[in-house]
Amino acid sequence: MTTADRTRVAIVGAGPAGLLLSHLLAASGIESIVVDRRSREEIENTIRAGILEQGTVDLLVESGASTRVLEDGNRHDGIELRFAGEGHRIDFPSLTGRSVWLYPQHEVLRDLVAARLAAGQDLRLGITVERVEDAETTRPRVIGTDADGHPFEIEADVVVGADGSRSAVRSAVTGGIRSDLFREYPFAWFGILCDAPPSADELIYSNSPDGFALISQRSATVQRMYFQCDPDTDPDSLSDAQIWAELQARVPGTTLHEGHIFQRDVLRFRSFVAHQLRRGRVALIGDAAHTVPPTGAKGMNLAVADVVLLDRALGALLVENDERPFDAFAETALRRIWKAQHFSWWMTSMLHVAPDASQFDRERQLGELRSVVESEAGRSYLAEAYTGWPFETRLP
Ligand code: PHB
Repeated sequence: MTTADRTRVAIVGAGPAGLLLSHLLAASGIESIVVDRRSREEIENTIRAGILEQGTVDLLVESGASTRVLEDGNRHDGIELRFAGEGHRIDFPSLTGRSVWLYPQHEVLRDLVAARLAAGQDLRLGITVERVEDAETTRPRVIGTDADGHPFEIEADVVVGADGSRSAVRSAVTGGIRSDLFREYPFAWFGILCDAPPSADELIYSNSPDGFALISQRSATVQRMYFQCDPDTDPDSLSDAQIWAELQARVPGTTLHEGHIFQRDVLRFRSFVAHQLRRGRVALIGDAAHTVPPTGAKGMNLAVADVVLLDRALGALLVENDERPFDAFAETALRRIWKAQHFSWWMTSMLHVAPDASQFDRERQLGELRSVVESEAGRSYLAEAYTGWPFETRLP
């Protein structure tokens, strides 16, 4: 027996994009069902990036999704770019009037899950979505099996794929055509979480002859740090002493506070944009639609920008019967997606040392870094992109 349900918007994926979308839709009286393969514990404990753009924070606070971000998050008014043995601060408020917030993604997820459950959201976990059918009708359907292995179907006015880079919804939109809007990088990040106080007040992005390092933070007692490594590195192949030596060598001038390393991982870098973001009544958002390398901290923020647009488009479609904003969704979203793709690629290529870099490449890269930090226009571009461009408000 297949259970069949009906809702206005079926959202596949209870990550930041899917949960925030359900939250904003509910504020316009649009009911949704959110499904995810994972358990609540897995969702709330996935360790991801930690930087929220100003616009992301404003939206979380104004929509009532999280007030904790202001209490437990930390506002950062700048970052440091370090190269050739010198640090250069990029001051966000004086360049853009905006800041960013250090508030880890799993905290955002805890807030969103709590807010949605308190509001009575239909949130179904442990669900495996197999496929989406009838994308080009006004009754698309999500098909899969529930936590007990029983088949189910959800029929909706619109289906949204917010189910991450291994999206099960994507092929209903792209027709299974693999996007060639794709690039891989010849390096990855070796990331650690450790028990230690912060080694600096703000994040340090360091370009050194040994490769890139990022000294980030999580809290007063837990730190997140990364260094550039070969994509095939086994996270268990390095001793703690070797990890500290790698990190320390890449931030000359700063003595890192070392501490117990309780998590280590290797993050591969990819840039990707699906060749189509919408087909009929099925749309893709967040990592299901695009991936950026982590250097510019754009991943979750870009997902939030997709949600803002889609929420408006669905409001117009489902409340006012106006199809134009939904028809324009992909084209409008792609403008920001490609700006963020460029920024993430640029930060990545400017700061990392490619394995085959020649002396010319290295000197040119230092010239590029100097061009940025010594020019107010250069610093402003970086600060605008890092703190986040304003959300798009123009819709047809
Ligand atoms: C992080 O803290 O995980 C983080 C911060 C900034 C980035 C990327 C990752 O650009």
